[in-house]
Amino acid sequence: MSAPPAMPSPDLPGRPAVPTAAASGQSVAPRASPSCGAPALLEADQLTRHYTVSRGLFKPAVRVRALDGVSFTLAAGETLAVVGESGCGKSTLARALTLVETPTAGRLQIDGIDVATARPDERRALRRAVQMVFQNPYASLNPRKRVAQMLDEPLVLNTTLSPAERRERIAEMLAQVGLRPEQAPRYPHMFSGGQRQRIAIARAMMLKPRLLVADEPTSALDVSIQAQILNLLMDLQQASGVAYVFISHNLSVVEHMADRVMVMYFGRAVEQAPKASLFARPLHPYTRALLSATPSIDPARRALKIRITGELPSPLAPPSGCAFHGRCPQATERCRSETPELRAVGGHQVACHHAESLA
Ligand SMILES: Nc1ncnc2c1ncn2[C@@H]1O[C@H](COP(=O)(O)OP(=O)(O)OP(=O)(O)O)[C@@H](O)[C@H]1O
Ligand code: SF4
Ligand SMILES: [Mg+2]
Repeated sequence: MSAPPAMPSPDLPGRPAVPTAAASGQSVAPRASPSCGAPALLEADQLTRHYTVSRGLFKPAVRVRALDGVSFTLAAGETLAVVGESGCGKSTLARALTLVETPTAGRLQIDGIDVATARPDERRALRRAVQMVFQNPYASLNPRKRVAQMLDEPLVLNTTLSPAERRERIAEMLAQVGLRPEQAPRYPHMFSGGQRQRIAIARAMMLKPRLLVADEPTSALDVSIQAQILNLLMDLQQASGVAYVFISHNLSVVEHMADRVMVMYFGRAVEQAPKASLFARPLHPYTRALLSATPSIDPARRALKIRITGELPSPLAPPSGCAFHGRCPQATERCRSETPELRAVGGHQVACHHAESLA
């Protein structure tokens, strides 16, 4: 079989490329984490996105704090899973990371480039280097475009490959995502949900991105198909060294995919930790409640019986102090007045006044 055509990768101007297994023909090196000294691919510092929401003619507009000062780092080739209830700000974070929306405040650096002050050529390179896969492959694919055209567009716009090289690259990518080259002339409606998500992933991977933000990529799919798509994402990561921000409300899926986990509540990160440590010893009462609601074969996890009552507070009337205090079994008077900051406890980052008592 002939070697795939060389394609310019979306390396950022003036920055060295991340070597990939596919490019080097070697096995993938152990994943680096920023915590072990490797330079971060992405650094989010107090990332904030507020929306002003009108409430009608006679009421003043209110500010919704969809994302309220989230900080984290991500190494090349790493998977950070982001979990939390509906409305906690996961998709808002995804839009900020993929440059779809400008943060209200805070700093986002990708490969050492500050997104807010990036030159136009750096911004174009960042847009190629960071791609997104959406929840619903029925809505995210243009029904009027053939698969071949959808996969060809990023190559036409961003590379100097010849038509023959582009065709070869498309066939190669279709094979990588488990589709056949003869399916390339078909329209999206001629595919199943799982196949459509494979096409969406192929489109996102065409320019060999450094970071893929996947926002609930399997939750619109039949349960029997979900594992196939998750395994495909993991295979692509092994082959290409792409990093993932993987958004999900399903902790079983997160346990399968993640290196590290960030738990969000009401626009803020409330706990961050390596996956194994977070699942074995959650330190934030909200993380404990989420885990106790997830079926597990681990007897220690099954013993966790913490119920949270009520719903996420209204974003139009944010609570004082810790946003979780109205639902938290550990809440004290201090929790009602003082907002806990994220701090290091027992190897985790936790935003809880009483995290030590659970450590
Ligand atoms: N464009 C917008 N204008 C006003 N409010 C918004 C806007 N986008 C999001 N929000 C609000 O910001 C909060 C976070 O929304 P977001 O979509 O990020 O949540 P999510 O965690 O992705 O939820 P889900 O799991 O349901 O997808 C919600 O209260 C939402 O109503
Ligand atoms: S700060 Fe208080 S209310 Fe918030 S999670 Fe911790 S114990 Fe519960
Ligand atoms: Mg969402």
